[in-house]
Amino acid sequence: MAEKVLVCVAWPYANGSLHVGQIAGAYLPGDIFARFQRLIGNDVLMVSGSDEHGTPITVRAEQEGRPPKEITDHFHEEFLESWRQLGISFDLFTRTGTDNHREVVHQLFLKMYAEGYLTVSTMEAPYCAFDARFLPDRYVEGVCPHCGFDGARGDQCDNCGRPLNAIELVKPRCRFCGRPPEIRETRHFFLQLPKFEAALKEWVARQLHWRPTVLNATRSFLDQGLLPRPITRDIDWGVTIPVDGFEDKRIYVWFEACTGYLSASIEWAKLQGQPDLWKDWWTGENHTYYFIGKDNTFFHTIIWPAMLMGHEDVNLPFDVPANEYLTLENAKVSTSRNWAIWVPEFLKRYDPDPLRYMLAANMPETRDADFTWEEFIRRNNEELVATWGNLVHRTLTFAVRNFDGKVPTAATDVSELVEERAGQTLATVRELLGGCHFKEALRETMALAQYGNRLLDERAPWRQIREDREATAATIYGLLTLINALKVLTYAFLPFSAQKLHGLLGYQDELLGHGWVVERLVAGTPLPTPLPLFAKLDPAAESLAPTAAE
Ligand code: MF3
Ligand code: ZN
Repeated sequence: MAEKVLVCVAWPYANGSLHVGQIAGAYLPGDIFARFQRLIGNDVLMVSGSDEHGTPITVRAEQEGRPPKEITDHFHEEFLESWRQLGISFDLFTRTGTDNHREVVHQLFLKMYAEGYLTVSTMEAPYCAFDARFLPDRYVEGVCPHCGFDGARGDQCDNCGRPLNAIELVKPRCRFCGRPPEIRETRHFFLQLPKFEAALKEWVARQLHWRPTVLNATRSFLDQGLLPRPITRDIDWGVTIPVDGFEDKRIYVWFEACTGYLSASIEWAKLQGQPDLWKDWWTGENHTYYFIGKDNTFFHTIIWPAMLMGHEDVNLPFDVPANEYLTLENAKVSTSRNWAIWVPEFLKRYDPDPLRYMLAANMPETRDADFTWEEFIRRNNEELVATWGNLVHRTLTFAVRNFDGKVPTAATDVSELVEERAGQTLATVRELLGGCHFKEALRETMALAQYGNRLLDERAPWRQIREDREATAATIYGLLTLINALKVLTYAFLPFSAQKLHGLLGYQDELLGHGWVVERLVAGTPLPTPLPLFAKLDPAAESLAPTAAE
């Protein structure tokens, strides 16, 4: 029976282009997982959208002297184009500025308020007398009270990953004028996290299938104790507060952006003309997955689950396979210092599959990983072109040339051998992908391609054909079976070249409908003229080195 699988992927701030680190962190693993689930026959709903609110957006808008909406309109369109080109296969990629989103957020807010999970109280907050404004979140910077990192922001420290209250910062300074802020009183809504503490502890204790990194981080948040957290801000850009007397404040970006997973699912159901359809993915036995970078862990394993408990009647996350960081040439990615590989620039010069390959082979699943330009070129040339691409190209050109442009009729001894080996790999990779072990799954897949190359070299059809045409046909038929299995195995990682290969093997339809199986080709099927799947890159000429920081 087909399962319903909900694939939620972090909402990127629409304040700048996407960079390769974000793709490795959340979008690629989410997409590989979604494609795999679809291929094995499950019903996937994959949602995300542009995060349009919060200080990351307004800081940029103020720097450029443009309205925030102009910025988010621009990057939302750009994101859609990046997903299309990279093959990130969202069922819906919406945005937090929609009426639907605001309505869903308001409903949840009011429900939690009515249940006593949200309370109003007065708090002290940094206020810049010079700029005459409160300084929430990114508007104030200073030294992290936990790790001593100078450059922590009012919402969290990017160095140790801990969430912060702006007022805890040591030596705080105003983002605009650099002056130390004063402290003023202001009224806000607080999420009563302590009310969820026992339930969260009990729930987290049962999540033994989570990655150790995610489980440990979550346990340590719980061990430190949960405090009430303000979830509204003194700003004028964001989702309004559905309670009288708070017209000049807005809901905190994280509180509403997380609700986006739900509002996007509801929007998707409305677009299908079946407004209740979202419930099929959010209730019952179905599993929900959240693909995020590690800096988002607290919000996805503590805050959002607490909100879902407050909502009632919807599923808590089944897995939150947060990735660690991807560094670039051994240095931390910094968008402000332009130390990053920007997705739109990359896609102007390169095909998406080599990038997907590099990022999957080197995915920061259990520890940080590094992207180097040299490794990208090497993996493309040695692994995609020389190992996988050449196996396909040598086999197909040989078949077309020597067997009349058709799949040969053959004894099936070699394909039986191959089917057994490929069948094992399919079973192993299915387990691995189902458990979100992407790197390992790709390694197993490539090991099968190496096996194919060895088989080709051992049986040497170019010699065989001079003596024994029938044995040669069996060799080629077996290799075609192997390649057909590898097409299935590579699909989630390399969707463009896998579909292209599907056509080169004589199919006229979509690969996706064929399922997670080793399929034999029909003898006599015409094979089109083979084309290489990948292009070799010249290490000297091709470098798109990041425009570096000084
Ligand atoms: N916009 C946030 C970021 O880029 C992520 C938000 S994920 C969500 O770090 F779940 F809150 F939407
Ligand atoms: Zn100031």
